[in-house]
Amino acid sequence: MRVYFDYNATTPLSPEAAESVIRATRDLFGNASSVHHFGQQAKAALDDSRSAVAALLNADPSEIVFTSGGTESDNFAIRGAADALEATRRRHLVASAIEHEAVLNTLKALGRRGWKTTLVTVDETGVVSPDRVREVVTDETALVSVMHANNEIGTVQPIAEIAAIAHERGALMHTDAVQSTGKIPVDVRSLGIDLLALSAHKFNGPKGAGALWVKRGTRLLPLVTGGKHERNRRAGTENVPAVAGLGVAARQAVAKMAQEATRVGALRDRLEDGVLRQVPGTTINGSRGSRIPNTTNISFDRVEAESLLIALDLEGVAVSTGSACSSGALEPSHVLRAMGFPAHRTQNSLRFSLGLFSTGDEVDRVVALLPGLVEKLRRLTRRTASA
Ligand SMILES: Cc1ncc(COP(=O)(O)O)c(C=O)c1O
Repeated sequence: MRVYFDYNATTPLSPEAAESVIRATRDLFGNASSVHHFGQQAKAALDDSRSAVAALLNADPSEIVFTSGGTESDNFAIRGAADALEATRRRHLVASAIEHEAVLNTLKALGRRGWKTTLVTVDETGVVSPDRVREVVTDETALVSVMHANNEIGTVQPIAEIAAIAHERGALMHTDAVQSTGKIPVDVRSLGIDLLALSAHKFNGPKGAGALWVKRGTRLLPLVTGGKHERNRRAGTENVPAVAGLGVAARQAVAKMAQEATRVGALRDRLEDGVLRQVPGTTINGSRGSRIPNTTNISFDRVEAESLLIALDLEGVAVSTGSACSSGALEPSHVLRAMGFPAHRTQNSLRFSLGLFSTGDEVDRVVALLPGLVEKLRRLTRRTASA
C-alpha cells in the first residue's frame, strides 16, 4: 500500500480534470486568438474556465488572468504593482516572514532594485498579527503581501483585517491563496483585497496553470510582454489544455468543498490524535484553531525529520519536511524559524498533507508505522551519541 500525504506539494489530477486536459489537448488545438472556428473553440474553453475560476472566488470573469501557476501569479502581482508605482513616492513593500519563496525572493529581487522591503514576523502560533502589520505600513507602502494559508503549517491568516490596514494607508493588498483555494472558501470581496494568486495543481488540476485575480481598476504592468492576450495583461498563446483542466478543478472544488473539508479534516484530526497518543515526544506546530483542514505539521523530539521522511518513504509513505533540501544540506524551515522555534525543532518537524484520495485506512497505516520507526531512529541517535 502506497500512501501519498504530500498534497501541499502537489495533488493528483482528478479523473474529470485529467479527461478535460486530454480532450482539449486532442481536440482544441486552435490558437485562441484566431478568428476561425478552431480558434473560437479554444477561446470558448478559456472563457468557460474563466467563469469557473471566477465563481470559485466570487469574482468577475474579466478580473481573472491565466498564468503558468502560483509562482508566476505572485511575481505578476508584486512586480506588476511595483512597476506601475515605480515612479511614485510609494517604494516600500511589506510581506510576512512566512511567505512562500515565490513572494520572498521576489521582494529580495526588488530590494536589489532599490525598493525598501519589510518582513513581518509571526508568533509561535504561526499567525500574522494585524497590529504588527499596522506598525510597519506607511504612506510610502505600495503593496502588502500576506498569504491566505501557509503551505508548511496550514495556518490561515486574518487577511480581511490586514487588507483594511493596507488600504487605510493607500497600499494595495495581495494574497497568495495557493494553499487555500479549493480547500476553504476564498471570497475576494469579503477578503477586501486587490490581488490574489492561485495554482491549479494544488487542488487536483494540472501543473503549469494558475491565475491572478486582479480587482477591476487595479493598475498593474504586465510581467510578460508581447501580444494582446488576456486583455493585454499576460502575453503568450494560452495553454488551453491546462486552463481547461483548471476550470474543471475549480468547478469540482465549488461542488465538493464543504463535504471534502469535513471529510479530510476528520482524517487529519484522526492522524494527529493517533500520532500524539502513540508516539511520545510529539507536538503539533502552529495554531490548531485557524488552519486549512488538510495539513498538520508535527515535531518529533530527538528525531532528524529527514531520516524519518526516508524511513517512511521506504515503507511507501510520502510526506515532506517543510524545509528545502538542496545539495545535501538541510535548510531549517524559514517558517518554523520565523515562529521562534529553536534549531532542533525546525529540523525535527514533518508535514503531513492530505486530500481528495486520502482514506481512513491510510491514516491508520501511518499511525501504526510511526511509533516503531521513531523509536528505531531515537535508538540509533542514542547509540551514535554514546559511541
Ligand atoms: C503558498 C504557495 N505559494 C506559491 C506556490 C508556487 O506555486 P506553483 O507551484 O504553481 O508555482 C506554492 C507551491 O508550493 C505555495 O505553496
